[in-house]
Amino acid sequence: MRPPRGRGGGGGFRGGRGDGGGRGRGGGRGGGGGRGGGSAMRGRGGGRGGGRGGGRGRGGGGMKGGSKVVVEPHRHEGVFIAKGKEDALVTKNLVAGEAVYNEKRISVQNEDGTKVEYRIWNPFRSKLAAAVLGGVDNIWIKPGARVLYLGAASGTTVSHVSDIVGPNGVVYAVEFSHRSGRDLVNMAKKRTNVIPIIEDARHPAKYRMLVGMVDVIFSDVAQPDQARILALNASYFLKAGGHFVISIKANCIDSTVPAEAVFQSEVKKLQQDQFKPFEQVTLEPFERDHACVVGGYRMPKKQKA
Ligand SMILES: C[S@@+](CC[C@H](N)C(=O)[O-])C[C@H]1O[C@@H](n2cnc3c(N)ncnc32)[C@H](O)[C@@H]1O
Repeated sequence: MRPPRGRGGGGGFRGGRGDGGGRGRGGGRGGGGGRGGGSAMRGRGGGRGGGRGGGRGRGGGGMKGGSKVVVEPHRHEGVFIAKGKEDALVTKNLVAGEAVYNEKRISVQNEDGTKVEYRIWNPFRSKLAAAVLGGVDNIWIKPGARVLYLGAASGTTVSHVSDIVGPNGVVYAVEFSHRSGRDLVNMAKKRTNVIPIIEDARHPAKYRMLVGMVDVIFSDVAQPDQARILALNASYFLKAGGHFVISIKANCIDSTVPAEAVFQSEVKKLQQDQFKPFEQVTLEPFERDHACVVGGYRMPKKQKA
């Protein structure tokens, strides 16, 4: 696995957890108005890949109301960067005209006059967005992908994954809390590529009839046995040569040792279960003592020349 990376990106993301929609804890620690210093787009890899497609438009939230915004593709397919006074990560809204969690939207007019709507993707509210800004090389979640999402909560990040995979992809979203599950189910009424599953991810047999083989598992259950939960679900649903992305919150696993030691021991556990970790990024400054590990599952042996 490549040495851990990350640290440094973020901040500057206006509104903190509030999405500019007035909901959250906004402005706060560190410089730049967000939590932590610097520009939200300065994380490694954040700005690469611009140039293709995109368009100009007027944007609301996070982008300061009414300012001119240019949207460019991020190097991760299906993810975009809105470039205005401040840059922001965005996804193309699968259900134009609708916000999911009161996040701001930006409408952009293409050169041919057609309009596209994007939704601001806040790294303070989504560990996957934090990993993208942390410079992760590949999230493996792309247009057309089949994704199993463990720990969906009320669907904040799920909704962006749904935008990224688009109408030809599918997101099986597992959440065991009935309270969060209610919001998730409501969201899935409009986002037809999301299949909400209100079950305990420790018992994949209970939902095996609903889930097909997937290309990627994203896991964010924040549980001490999360490596085992991921392995169990992979044994049911993840294709050989598929990929995993796991968010690790050190405190949830062992609060008595340094976070880096927890990350290392989780990586070891994954290696024992046929996962091959490729890369690790920290989610600072968006989340403290969190890391995101990305890799492959039952990877084919390299052929000798
Ligand atoms: C950190 S939150 C997830 C946040 C979410 N991924 C997002 O970005 O919007 C963890 C979620 O995992 C759920 N969870 C924890 N253990 C679970 C399990 N065994 N099965 C299903 N969901 C679980 C919790 O109820 C909680 O909603």
